[in-house]
Amino acid sequence: MYLYDVNQEEAKAKILHLSAELNRHNDLYYIQAKPEISDQAFDFLLKELESLEDLFPQFALPNSPSKRVGGDITKKFESVRHEFPMLSLANTYSEEEIQEWAGRITKAGMEQLEFVCELKYDGVAIGLRYEQGELVRAVTRGDGEQGEDITANVRTIRTIPLSLKGDFPDKFEIRGEVFMPLEAFGKLNASRDEAGEERFANPRNTTAGTLKLQDSAVVATRGLDTFLYGVYGNDLPFQSHVDAVKAAGSWGFKIPSEAHGYISSTNTIAGVMDFIHYWDEHRSELPFEIDGIVIKVNSYEHQRRLGFTAKSPRWATAFKFKAKQVQTRLLSVDYQVGRTGAITPVANLTPISLGGTTVKRASLHNADQIEKFDLHLDDLVFVEKGGEIIPKIVGLDLAKRLPNAVPVGFITHCPECHSPLVREEGEAHHFCPNQVSCPPQVIGRIQHFVSRKAMNIDGIGEETVAQLVNEGVILTLADLYDLTREPLLALDRMADKSVDNLLAGIEASKKVPFERVLFGLGIRFVGETVAKKLAYAFGTMDTLQIATFEELLAVDEIGERIANSLISFFKNQESLQLIARLKLHGLNMEVEKRALDSTVLEGKTLVVSGVFDSLSRDELKHLIDVNGGKNTGSVSAKTDFLVAGEGMGPSKLKKATDLGVTILSEEEFKNLIGYGK
Ligand code: IVH
Repeated sequence: MYLYDVNQEEAKAKILHLSAELNRHNDLYYIQAKPEISDQAFDFLLKELESLEDLFPQFALPNSPSKRVGGDITKKFESVRHEFPMLSLANTYSEEEIQEWAGRITKAGMEQLEFVCELKYDGVAIGLRYEQGELVRAVTRGDGEQGEDITANVRTIRTIPLSLKGDFPDKFEIRGEVFMPLEAFGKLNASRDEAGEERFANPRNTTAGTLKLQDSAVVATRGLDTFLYGVYGNDLPFQSHVDAVKAAGSWGFKIPSEAHGYISSTNTIAGVMDFIHYWDEHRSELPFEIDGIVIKVNSYEHQRRLGFTAKSPRWATAFKFKAKQVQTRLLSVDYQVGRTGAITPVANLTPISLGGTTVKRASLHNADQIEKFDLHLDDLVFVEKGGEIIPKIVGLDLAKRLPNAVPVGFITHCPECHSPLVREEGEAHHFCPNQVSCPPQVIGRIQHFVSRKAMNIDGIGEETVAQLVNEGVILTLADLYDLTREPLLALDRMADKSVDNLLAGIEASKKVPFERVLFGLGIRFVGETVAKKLAYAFGTMDTLQIATFEELLAVDEIGERIANSLISFFKNQESLQLIARLKLHGLNMEVEKRALDSTVLEGKTLVVSGVFDSLSRDELKHLIDVNGGKNTGSVSAKTDFLVAGEGMGPSKLKKATDLGVTILSEEEFKNLIGYGK
């Protein structure tokens, strides 16, 4: 049966069934870690649901599992008053103060007193409101009285259920922490490296920044996670914190695992201290960051009796871990040259053990860092391990500086090609400007180009690229496509078979879609997501190449920094020659044309501008595409329609009016293409 043959009743039933199934599999996979079907089978069900929802949007559930991939754009995060104030916790770095706190409570003589110890997740607090088992709103803590509505973004977090299972209260709020697991943080920074973007400093700030992104589709890619730690509501049937948290687990929430020791009850102060000591020792083994331990009194009756101070409950407190720090000696400073030419100073240290690993090197970030500490060789420095794998220098012991110590001066020339370094205003890094022939830049660019997420060229690893460049066989990305058997066979470790593989891999890469070619070019700040957005927005390399600053800025999530980088890339003669050569070799220079939904817009040129209520700009452009129309970035005499949203520039509107272009609202556009009919 084709989806198009489904009648309304069947479609409605099928949408309901698929939504429930997808919710069930989401729970099995993300919460219970007991998947019943493969990832492909899951994707298949999801595609089926999406197609049906496209055809019958009137039946799509507001909390449809298809919303997990995001797409909603939030123009402004609305302010929302909390029904129950979101308090913070008293906290201390002193074990004695924890003992005193627990001692005071123990002495109050409450029968069967029990403490619950939990991890203090280092993320962002969130309040989730559910009504009739459906997520209706997600709000940040804000000032504790009112926060911001970030529902569209929170919906994309896989461990937050959109529809609950089991026996849940009609209305309640559940609170917890959203955080970025270390693996997701590492991957994100690796992709920032690839795009030549500044790394994010730590998982917590990155989580906070991610939750405030306007485009929920980007949030969906960031791998955020949650733990829930408090249920709030009127007349809830629970007698204790543990009862409530366990019940929340049965409704489909991700709660801390007892089996992993993430939560534990005890009725002694010694039990509390054991929990603290255990996790102080073992926290580096956790797949996420914690900054301490939270201790709560379990019984709600006891909590009521203990009450609150002005800012925080008396029945809970937090012990904060001191960052793990060691002191060691600075031996020397090396300077690394990245793919974009950015110079990163790296400290070589007397090896020392820190948090279970031996530390020999520490990142110094940039020249400002060296200046800030006024670093001298042989200084005794403090090294700390944060969210990053590479530890950082956080200070030094001036009193122990040797009398004749030599200051660390930043280098003036590239350590690889000896070109004088430049540092532009506002830039954190020094750069080697010799893009054309500085070996690590050339090698890094080609390694990036052939990498899996870009051209995915089989048979050529990072070492082979370095070998090819070092031996002078290739100098640019385009040279890859001129490679022949003979010079390759002459290289060390290159036998017949590996040469065949390499050449076949290069040939196959000509089929890679345009958005990945664009990503592979390694334009500064153009990562995978940005490359996709640009490719869909402009359609072809030719259009993108001549896009103006304003046209670039009109694309979602493209800011001035990215726009400037693109403009300067396309102004450069070498870039243009490179693109021309790649084009001649037959690489994809336009987005693939998909099967059309209709030909209503055939021969028509449209411009989308501003922000819309129900569709994102990308969705609108996609709809233009699949209905046969052509998207362009700026209004001209050739424009047939301007689809105008809120906040569109007045000059664009005036130009359109002057040229007699038909201006459509979002609704008028939907009617034109029969959207939802
Ligand atoms: S309970 C009224 N439990 O720490 C007490 N908070 O300083 C409500 N946090 O805003 C908080 N892990 O963002 C609680 N297991 C945990 C927590 C936790 C992290 C954060 C939360 C809160 C802050 C309080």
